[in-house]
Amino acid sequence: MRVPGDKSISHRALILAVLGRGRSRVRGLLRSADIESTAAVLRQLGVTIPALSAQEVVIAGVGLRGLRAPDGDLDCGNSGTTARLMAGVVAGAGVTARFIGDASLSARPMRRVAAPLDAMGATVALPAHGGLPMTVQGGALRGLTWHSEVASAQVKSAILLAGLVADVPVEVHEPAATRDHTERMLRARGVALRSEGLVVTLEPAARLDSADTEVPGDPSSAAFLAGLAALGACHTVTLENVGVNPARVGAMRVLERMGASVRYASESEQGGEPVATISVRPGVLHAVEIGGAEVPALIDELPLLACVAARAAGETRITGAAELRVKESDRIRSMVSNLRALGADAEELPDGLVVRGSDRPLRGRVITHGDHRIAMAFGVLGAVAGNAITLDDPSCVAVSYPTFWDALAEARRA
Ligand code: S3P
Repeated sequence: MRVPGDKSISHRALILAVLGRGRSRVRGLLRSADIESTAAVLRQLGVTIPALSAQEVVIAGVGLRGLRAPDGDLDCGNSGTTARLMAGVVAGAGVTARFIGDASLSARPMRRVAAPLDAMGATVALPAHGGLPMTVQGGALRGLTWHSEVASAQVKSAILLAGLVADVPVEVHEPAATRDHTERMLRARGVALRSEGLVVTLEPAARLDSADTEVPGDPSSAAFLAGLAALGACHTVTLENVGVNPARVGAMRVLERMGASVRYASESEQGGEPVATISVRPGVLHAVEIGGAEVPALIDELPLLACVAARAAGETRITGAAELRVKESDRIRSMVSNLRALGADAEELPDGLVVRGSDRPLRGRVITHGDHRIAMAFGVLGAVAGNAITLDDPSCVAVSYPTFWDALAEARRA
């Protein structure tokens, strides 16, 4: 099977195509609600973006100084990546824009990007709760060295994009390594960018070259089908052309640690990112400890791993993952309350959760809070023989994996 294009890379492919000089082609783009949000925001800044297609989208870049002030609010929908990365772009471009989003996004923390952008000389206004609406007034920015308190690729990318667009040097220190797609893609477009350990430094670049992007399959989407196979709810699943950037495949490593068989084949490089065919076979699953520096590489997959842990013998402890509380929902609370409502044994920690696995049948209705990854994680758990799980809102998968339910059915039939 193939999974749709990587969400993180798809956002960046559109943004960098727009900021480049000349034409860029994007193949394999994810078509989902979050990527539509980024396209819509870019259109509001005066750029022509054709209808999104997974085949090929050709974008005529406007260059680093080509964005216009928008007429209305920039609606980021449910997408944190859109809001935070575009806040950096808007700040650097010297325009003023008001960012809005749905109820979930409006409650998510924006100070983490507002603070560094303010320190660069932009003016960022936030409501008292620190979420949206956020008004970013760009200006003549100055260079910045920033020590980020949170391990966040969105914060890192917002600062890099602000520096790039404003033509000033920036240096970002991260507390733990996060996905480095922005760095790889900027380098491929001629930007002088250095990464050493947890520090990334961008030198001013008067221009950004255009480049074509082949978007690999999203490892975060692949993780759900991998989890299905690990749980023995289907036979071996073979997923072609999946991105295997080390900063993204923590969940594959954990599934293997839990006792599933995970094999990589046909490893190659595509547009500066490693890709491979991943095969996952069921195994006898046991509990594991998940925490520390590995967390950013599996943060989006923790709902899935918590559901797999509900069927793994022993007590799985997930720690160092307080960021889960500020994702599309409070995922610690959503996972624990739903697992318990189904009859599983789970408990909240301030920065994670504990799940005690069993093979008792899990039955009931899941409240997704409109969170795509909660929906897909329980969709996988519901596919396990003996379980009977319904969801209040299966359609929220449209945020990252609109064809998920068909893919799940196809994997189960095979
Ligand atoms: C993303 C970074 C992560 C991740 C999100 C996508 C990105 O968020 O959870 O789904 O594309 O940069 P944070 O940067 O907030 O950790």
